[in-house]
Amino acid sequence: MTSILPGAPWLIAHRSMLGINQPNKITLNGQDYVLWQNQNREVFALSNICPHMQAPLSDGWICKERNTIICPFHSLEFSTEGKLYREGKQDTQQITLPLKLTVIGDMIWTYGECEPHLPIPDLIEKIAAEYDFVGIAGEQSIQSDFLNTWLINSDFNHQNGTHRELFQIVQNRVTAFEKKDYWYKVKQESTRASNTLGEILTNPVLLTIPKILKSTVEYWFPSVLVLYGEAGFGEFVQVILQYPQQQNQTKIYELIFGRFKASWMKPLLGKSILKSIDVVVEQDIAALETRYPHHQPKVKLPNEDVMVYAQQLYRDWHSSDLTAVVTSQLQ
Ligand code: FES
Ligand SMILES: [Fe+2]
Repeated sequence: MTSILPGAPWLIAHRSMLGINQPNKITLNGQDYVLWQNQNREVFALSNICPHMQAPLSDGWICKERNTIICPFHSLEFSTEGKLYREGKQDTQQITLPLKLTVIGDMIWTYGECEPHLPIPDLIEKIAAEYDFVGIAGEQSIQSDFLNTWLINSDFNHQNGTHRELFQIVQNRVTAFEKKDYWYKVKQESTRASNTLGEILTNPVLLTIPKILKSTVEYWFPSVLVLYGEAGFGEFVQVILQYPQQQNQTKIYELIFGRFKASWMKPLLGKSILKSIDVVVEQDIAALETRYPHHQPKVKLPNEDVMVYAQQLYRDWHSSDLTAVVTSQLQ
C-alpha cells in the first residue's frame, strides 16, 4: 500500500506495552515489524519478515545475552542491525532492515520508512513529567480508515448517540476552537443527566464524573490528541494515539495520566478509570465499524467545523503552504 500521511511521526508504543525481551509485532502503513526492548531498556525494531524463508520473526524469541532475535522456523539468529549472527559472530552484510526509531522517555516514535515531514510533538514528555501514569486503555486494531478514526475525536456531537448510556449527555457546547497549522484546540462543556443508583453500583467511577463536564482537547494532527478533564478524584489526561496499519485498519490506544487529590485514590480507582475508557473506546469502535461507506452528509449539525478542519488537514497533507511552515521547525 502507499503510505498514509507519509512523513508523519507515529507513536507506535509506550514502553510499558513491550515487556522485556519479548518480540512484539507492529504493523505500520502495510509493513510488519518486530519490536523489542532488552533488559537495559534499549528498544529495537526489524522488518518482521525473516530473510531466509519469510517466517514472522515476532513468533520467534530473543537471546538476551547476544541481543539478537531468533526466527521460529529454522532458528536463524539476527542482530539488531539486521545481520546474521552465526558461529559466535555477526556477518558484515545486512540482510534485513532495521526500522528507525526515536525513543523519548517511554515513548517509541517512528516515521516508518518515510522522511520526516513534521517534528515529533513534545507534549507527552511534559504530561509524563507533571502527572502520574495510570496505564494503557482502549488498545485495539480496528476496521476503519485513518481519517474517519481521527474524525470521531473531532466530532463534538457523537457523545449524544455513541456514548449516551455512559455519560447521558443532555447538552454539549463547544466554547472555544483555536487553530494553527497542524495544531488545533477545542474547549467543550457537557451537561449530564443524573445517574441512577443501579448505574452507580455497576460502575462506581460514575460518581467521580461531575454533572457538568468541562474538557479541553488539543490536537497535533495526525499523531496525537490530548483530552484534559476534571473528575471527583482530581484531574485526568487522555493521550489518544492512532496510526495507520492498512488502508482500512487503524491501531488505536490511549495513555492515561492523572493527578489525584490523595495518594490512595490511584490504586483504588486506576483500574476502574482504565475500564471506563475501554468502554468509551468500544462504543466508538462500534460506531466506526458499522458505518456504511461515506457520502456527503445531507444534514449539518453545530460544532462540525472542527471535523471540517481536520478533513482539510488530511486532504492538504501534500500542499506546500502548510508543510513549508512546519518543516522549517525540523531544521
Ligand atoms: S524462515 Fe527464518 S530461519 Fe528460516
Ligand atoms: Fe467517542
